[in-house]
Amino acid sequence: MKVIVKKDQQKASVEGYKIFKEAVQSGAKVFGLATGSTPLTTYDELVKSDLDFSDSISINLDEYVGISPDNDQSYKYFMNKYLFSKKPFKKSYLPDGLAKDPKEEIKRYDRVIAEHPIDLQLLGIGRNGHIGFNEPGTPFDLETHVADLTDSTIEANARFFEHVEDVPKQAYSMGIGSIMKSKKIILEAFGANKADAVAKMVEGPVTEDVPASVLQKHPDVVVLLDEAAASKLS
Ligand code: F6R
Repeated sequence: MKVIVKKDQQKASVEGYKIFKEAVQSGAKVFGLATGSTPLTTYDELVKSDLDFSDSISINLDEYVGISPDNDQSYKYFMNKYLFSKKPFKKSYLPDGLAKDPKEEIKRYDRVIAEHPIDLQLLGIGRNGHIGFNEPGTPFDLETHVADLTDSTIEANARFFEHVEDVPKQAYSMGIGSIMKSKKIILEAFGANKADAVAKMVEGPVTEDVPASVLQKHPDVVVLLDEAAASKLS
């Protein structure tokens, strides 16, 4: 793992942008993307840039179960708002939160990932060490699945909803098995509330109790941190 620490989120996001740029210049066409607060500044950098994704494919990590793509809490809505409407991609894939048959939806998403091997995957990390919605205890070899969100994740995501009860309890998530097949991975973490998870991911044992620790086994991971998120690294 290569760990890069910058003074703040903005400066770290410029590094994130540079990694996207190098990937595009070396022919990357498939980008795994995340939602949440963390990637927003990196998406801003991509939007401001002259990078062209009109011949690229994006595959998002996750989507809430039971939420329509038009709902402003859906991850599809989020991606359109912050990235795709401003920086078009040829084709963008997300799980369908309203799929009638979850088993079929899981198979469809695994097919999408198998047919489009991910060149560069962008990840955030949960305060409990999750990546995507692979919560602590999720087997490392799992592919797409429906995840039950932990109380800690529901509480963390409640800031986007009017009431904590409105936060969906389940989400489709790309599995760690698929994430680990990405050619290159950037994991971004910003803020003091990520410092414990970051320390465990980088310096702790590789354990399913800390899903992000699996990244220690990937040959090409860049961890981009601000000083607060790096504060518990030795
Ligand atoms: C989002 C995702 C999650 C987030 C994580 C951090 O698509 O897969 O793993 O990356 O929960 O969320 P933020 O960035 O909001 O702190």
